Amino acid sequence: MTDLLLQKQPDRFDIYRRPPGLWLSPSRKRWMVTAPDLIRQVMTSDAFAVPTYDVSRLSERLNVDLRFLNALREWIPLAHEGERHRHLRANFARAVTSRSDAALEGLRQALEARRSIFSRPTGTEFCLFSDLFRPALRRAIARLSDVPLTEDLPVEVIPQLFDDTISLTRRRRINAVLEGISGCIPASLGEDERQTRMAVIALSANTLLGSVCQTFIEQLGQSPGRPLRDVAWGRELTRTALPLVEKRVVKPVELGGQSLQPGDRVRLFIEAAGVSAEGRPCYDDLFFAVGPHKCVGMNVSIRAWQMVADFCATLDCKVELLSVSERDGDYVFNLPERILVKLDA
Ligand code: HEM
Repeated sequence: MTDLLLQKQPDRFDIYRRPPGLWLSPSRKRWMVTAPDLIRQVMTSDAFAVPTYDVSRLSERLNVDLRFLNALREWIPLAHEGERHRHLRANFARAVTSRSDAALEGLRQALEARRSIFSRPTGTEFCLFSDLFRPALRRAIARLSDVPLTEDLPVEVIPQLFDDTISLTRRRRINAVLEGISGCIPASLGEDERQTRMAVIALSANTLLGSVCQTFIEQLGQSPGRPLRDVAWGRELTRTALPLVEKRVVKPVELGGQSLQPGDRVRLFIEAAGVSAEGRPCYDDLFFAVGPHKCVGMNVSIRAWQMVADFCATLDCKVELLSVSERDGDYVFNLPERILVKLDA
């Protein structure tokens, strides 16, 4: 297994804890950082900047139309530093704050609308991802972004724009989905408003959906054989679908005894912080980052998880987890796309 896939390795939490917590990956030509204190140092230091996610040169060189992808990155706070970042972040935060309650109400209604899937006969097998989590959280994301997301729009592909290793074919697909979304937003709105709505989808479609699913799987597994109402649902997200983030070095800097130079890339394994002293998965503030790029969607995401947990706590049935599969070819997110369960007596 290469460093590229460390975040997919089942025993990765042991590897994360091994010293020195910082090494240069020959296969990735980037610094790998697993020590939480070093991750915090990177996130709060001005010697590091976010990647630009700029694909304009690629599209010019290969003469490929990535117009929607290029336009979107101009409006994503996570692709900018300085004044532009501050402006975008403030805009984004206003949009998320003003629509959080509507998003959570949409989530509540969507969960209720699917309650009957748990009343099927004992022994019924079904996919909780496609029958519950995906449609319910899509409803929340539609309200949060104020974009009516139709079923034919596979918005989950969009966040792969944050993976610099994806193929041109995937970039074209993302561009096509963004074009589809753009068609659902009133043309009368200004560019700022239109792009902020798309950026909300890009930043939540995998993080929120995946983290809620991963946390559900994790906490269900901690209470085997109990009815859903008796599972020890915690109030915090104990797993994250975003195990890592990347930064680039913009000034010479010392980190963990190593000299890093401008142009170096740094991969921060933020999920490494999510293990308690007893070795159990737990929430850590690094899940939502610290410093100037700290997540703007943290509050609504935690409240969304709590709403899902409260909903599960009203269900009398037992659910046996049969299998979970994650999306293929994903080097950034840990996003389940199938959660097969069986209703037990
Ligand atoms: C459980 C769900 C989520 C997790 C685990 C998560 C995690 C993160 C992390 C780790 C970052 C920092 C990335 C970096 O430094 O490269 C981040 C930034 C960000 N997140 Fe989230 N996020 C979640 C949900 C959301 C949602 C629902 C939204 C919006 C609707 C959102 C909006 C943002 C924005 C705008 C930024 C960039 C902030 C900036 O650059 O100033 N996130 N998120």
